[in-house]
Amino acid sequence: VTSNLSIENSLSSRTSIPQSPPSVHHPIQREIRFGNFTYPYVVADNGWSSLGTTLAQLNVDRFFVVADAGIPAHLRERVKRTLASVAPSVVIDLKSTERRKRLSVVADLAEEFIREGATRRSCVVALGGGLVGNVTGLLASLLFRGIRLVHLPTTLLAVSDSTLSLKQAVNAGDIKNALGCFYPPVLVWSDIRILQDLPASHVRGALCEVAKNVLAIVPERYDELVSLARPNADYSQAELIRIIDLCITAKSRVMVHDACEVRSGLVLEYGHTVGHAIELTSGGSVSHGYAIGLGMLVAAEISVKLGHLNRNNADKHTEILTRIGAPIQAPADVHRNSVIRCVIHDNKRGYLTTRPTAIPMVLLRSLGEAIHTDGFPLCRVPVKLVSESLDVVYRTCGRT
Ligand SMILES: NC(=O)c1ccc[n+]([C@@H]2O[C@H](COP(=O)([O-])OP(=O)(O)OC[C@H]3O[C@@H](n4cnc5c(N)ncnc54)[C@H](O)[C@@H]3O)[C@@H](O)[C@H]2O)c1
Repeated sequence: VTSNLSIENSLSSRTSIPQSPPSVHHPIQREIRFGNFTYPYVVADNGWSSLGTTLAQLNVDRFFVVADAGIPAHLRERVKRTLASVAPSVVIDLKSTERRKRLSVVADLAEEFIREGATRRSCVVALGGGLVGNVTGLLASLLFRGIRLVHLPTTLLAVSDSTLSLKQAVNAGDIKNALGCFYPPVLVWSDIRILQDLPASHVRGALCEVAKNVLAIVPERYDELVSLARPNADYSQAELIRIIDLCITAKSRVMVHDACEVRSGLVLEYGHTVGHAIELTSGGSVSHGYAIGLGMLVAAEISVKLGHLNRNNADKHTEILTRIGAPIQAPADVHRNSVIRCVIHDNKRGYLTTRPTAIPMVLLRSLGEAIHTDGFPLCRVPVKLVSESLDVVYRTCGRT
């Protein structure tokens, strides 16, 4: 297989893919366009040789790979062999936990890569889930003020969400993704076979973000996702491709003129205010996707209580998450008081002027229609109302 991707080396340069019908080997081959940034995005089918051919166009002196310590050994070796066939590679394993998503880890990796001879002609490669992608993306943006970044995402969430974004960040204090920047990759490449081997819980977690896209951006695809979704998370390659395609459509719709997700793209934060708080409070035991699912249930409940969303549309949130097989209740050991303490540090504070007793949240008026305040798809919500609305995910007992 020969790839026809063309890759250039500059933050502002255009990357282009000559239009060609998706082939068997590249079921998805697209140019992602967010604002002025474009990059090639490929989901291949056993396309390791074409990855090598594509990477050879980068003309790098060395690959510096941050490899997720949790990926299957055969996958790590396959990628390592592919990279090594193009240029010398340095691989460092990173344990993927939210506690490791810190600036100190980025600094340690940078020191190591510099010791190993990184130059401006080197390329940083993120091999793993969204967490490794974020840490590595930030590292690429900082090293020599920015060197090339290639994402090789290995989870469905990373393929369908985090690599369809320019956001790179690490956590600081109690705030998720508090330190970061926007930095485009020169290439995103995954393989559909990796995704078919994922544990079911990973796939369900990713589907929660897909559900968010449907509820908040492309409600016309609600019935399609409901009929596709199944709790055992056993999807064919063709179904996974449809799911990824749906995400490309949804994210492109709100990011085509808002690459940095500060206006229309803020809607992608639906469910994230409470979701991030649950994820952080749980210390990672509730995955990102599951936490966002729970966060959307709370956001829908708040919107119903404020008289915006009707109950039928709120129920559609529960229906879709149930079809996916995602939890609709928070675990007992994630205490709601701690969740509220985290919520008030949410990283969307400041978009709107709010009293200390309120926070800005994405809320829906109806499916696909966010409520706007001062031009932002955000709503001022009293923290007290968030606290009361947590009831919807803490129904099974009166925990505090
Ligand atoms: N930049 C963005 O726009 C954006 C969007 C969504 C999520 N994120 C971030 O992404 C992270 C979540 O990403 P995630 O859901 O991919 O989780 P993750 O990166 O934390 O990975 C979850 C687990 O899966 C393991 N893993 C990775 N690939 C695997 C494979 N092929 N087979 C088996 N196990 C594998 C990892 O080792 C880890 O234990 C969060 O930190 C979140 O903040 C960023």
